[in-house]
Amino acid sequence: MSDSTIAFIGGGNMARSLIGGLIAHGTPPARIRVADPDADQRETLAARLGVTVTASNSEAVTGADVVVLAVKPAHIKTVADELASQLRAQASLTISIAAGVRETDISRWLGGGVPVVRCMPNTPSLLQSGMTALYANEHVSQAHRSLSETMLQAVGEIEWIADEGLMDAVTAVSGSGPAYFFLVMEAMEAAGAELGLDPASARRLTLATALGAARMANDSDEDPATLRQRVTSPGGTTEAATKALETGDIHAVFQRALATATERARELGDQLGNQ
Ligand SMILES: NC(=O)c1ccc[n+]([C@@H]2O[C@H](COP(=O)([O-])OP(=O)(O)OC[C@H]3O[C@@H](n4cnc5c(N)ncnc54)[C@H](OP(=O)(O)O)[C@@H]3O)[C@@H](O)[C@H]2O)c1
Repeated sequence: MSDSTIAFIGGGNMARSLIGGLIAHGTPPARIRVADPDADQRETLAARLGVTVTASNSEAVTGADVVVLAVKPAHIKTVADELASQLRAQASLTISIAAGVRETDISRWLGGGVPVVRCMPNTPSLLQSGMTALYANEHVSQAHRSLSETMLQAVGEIEWIADEGLMDAVTAVSGSGPAYFFLVMEAMEAAGAELGLDPASARRLTLATALGAARMANDSDEDPATLRQRVTSPGGTTEAATKALETGDIHAVFQRALATATERARELGDQLGNQ
C-alpha cells in the first residue's frame, strides 16, 4: 500500500477518515492525492494531513494505482462519466464507498473492463470503528483485493460479500445498524430516567453497558444468545426483563425492520442506477 498512489475523488468526512487511517498505518501522505471542488476543504486537507490536493479530478487520477470515489451517491455517475476513459486506459483499481450505488451501474458508467470494488462502510468508520462490506467485480485481482482490504481495514473491520444482491441486506444490518443500537440506548436511557435516575446517570449507565456488552460479544468465542443465557439467572431480574422484551416479540420486530430496510435499499439502488 505504501508504494501505491491513491487518488480520492471527494475530500469530505469519509475520505478524511480513510486518509487519516491510511497515514496512521504507514502510507506516506506524498502518495495520496485528493480532488475536491471546495477550496477550504482542500486547504484543510493539505494543512492537516499533508496530502496533495487539487480541484481537478482528472489531475488527481492521472497515474494513480487506486482511485477512491468518495462523493455522495448522487454524484457518482457524474464523476464516473468524467473519468471513464482515463480509468479504462489506466485500469486503475476503482473503489466506491458510495452507499447504495451498485458495482454493475458503476462498471456500466465506466464503460466496462475496469476493476471495481464496491464498499458499504458505516458511520463508525469515522472513528476507525467501522464495519465495511466489500464486493469485487471480475476484473479485480488478488493484489487489488489486498489493496482494498488494507484501505478499508484502516477504518475498522471488513467482510467480503460474493453476491452483490446481498449488499442490500448488508445495508440493512451494518449500514443502518448503528441507528438500531442508538434507538435501544435511547429507550434504555429514557426508561432509567423514568425509574427515577438522574438523566445524566441513566445515560452513563446505558452507554457504558452498551460498550461493555459489545466488547464482551466481540471478544467471546460464544454467540450472543449463549452470552445472554449466561447472565440470565432463573427467577432473576434479567430474566424478568428479557421475558418482557420477548412478549413484544423483539425477534419478529427486527426481522420486519431489516426486511423493510433491505427492500428500501433495493429501491434506492434502482433509483441511483437509473440516472
Ligand atoms: N459519512 C458516513 O458515515 C458514511 C458512511 C457510509 C458510506 N458513506 C459514503 O461515503 C461517501 C462520502 O460521504 P461523506 O459523508 O464523506 O460526504 P461529504 O462529507 O459530503 O464529502 C463528499 C465530498 O465530495 C465533494 N464533491 C462533490 N462533488 C464532487 C465532484 N464532482 N468531484 C469531486 N468532489 C466532489 C463534496 O464537495 P461539496 O461539499 O462542495 O459538494 C464533498 O467535499 C458517500 O457516497 C456516502 O454514501 C458515508
